[in-house]
Amino acid sequence: MEKTVTEAINYRRSTRVYKSEPIDSQKVKQCLYQASLAPTSSNLQLWEFYHITDKTLLDQLAVACLNQNAAKTAQQLVIVVTRKDLWRQRAKANIEFLNKVYDKPNLEERWLKRKKMAIDYYQKLIPTIYTDVFGILGFIKYLVFQIVGLFRPVYRQTRLSDMRIVAHKSAALAAENFMLSMSAIGYDTCPMEGSDTLRVKQILTLPRGAEINMVIGCGIRDEDKGIYGPRFRVPFEDVYFEK
Ligand SMILES: Cc1cc2nc3c(=O)[nH]c(=O)nc-3n(C[C@H](O)[C@H](O)[C@H](O)COP(=O)(O)O)c2cc1C
Repeated sequence: MEKTVTEAINYRRSTRVYKSEPIDSQKVKQCLYQASLAPTSSNLQLWEFYHITDKTLLDQLAVACLNQNAAKTAQQLVIVVTRKDLWRQRAKANIEFLNKVYDKPNLEERWLKRKKMAIDYYQKLIPTIYTDVFGILGFIKYLVFQIVGLFRPVYRQTRLSDMRIVAHKSAALAAENFMLSMSAIGYDTCPMEGSDTLRVKQILTLPRGAEINMVIGCGIRDEDKGIYGPRFRVPFEDVYFEK
């Protein structure tokens, strides 16, 4: 039986050594589907998930992951990738979806308004934020918004670096959805940023606009050596603030 969310959160540990027992690709794929249900900024879904089961690729990627045990002993790997460059396609997909769901005769006024607002969002606001030329336009927008921001609340994250963070935030949420889904079915994972991302991109033949968010080792924990130590967190009181 699947674990509850609380059980899955508690069971999940970064697992560095996996058993040699194979894991079911279809189950991993289902966990990746659940990853794709994570919330995402403007619902742009600027992410891709590479599910690696091929032994040759696994070996190459383990080297690119600096020969970390979590990659070397993994039965499968998942690479979460950001695709900021796909914003136009994703905005278009959202518009097509909106046109389809609101394609009903005699639509009530409030739904017509909602449809127009949402479509304007993808046709006007998203291009305003995402259009950039080598970071120059983004920086100009940033300066303009800083000035406007002196007088009223305004969205300020328009620089190329801001947009990268936006894409990586959403991708990391998907990665956590994935790891918790794996945990819920008794599979283990280890998120890794310790990798040569350029080599990972080359191995996966990813385009220039793609960025590696995380490589995730997947398998079943070795009961003795899999988890390096007890879980450590700074006291919750040090990070929790009620105001
Ligand atoms: C973004 C990110 C990158 C990480 N990179 C690595 C890594 O390269 N190698 C590794 O062994 N663990 C890596 N970790 C795992 C952390 O070390 C681990 O989450 C932390 O020590 C807490 O342990 P726990 O996950 O078992 O609770 C990473 C975790 C995150 C969230």
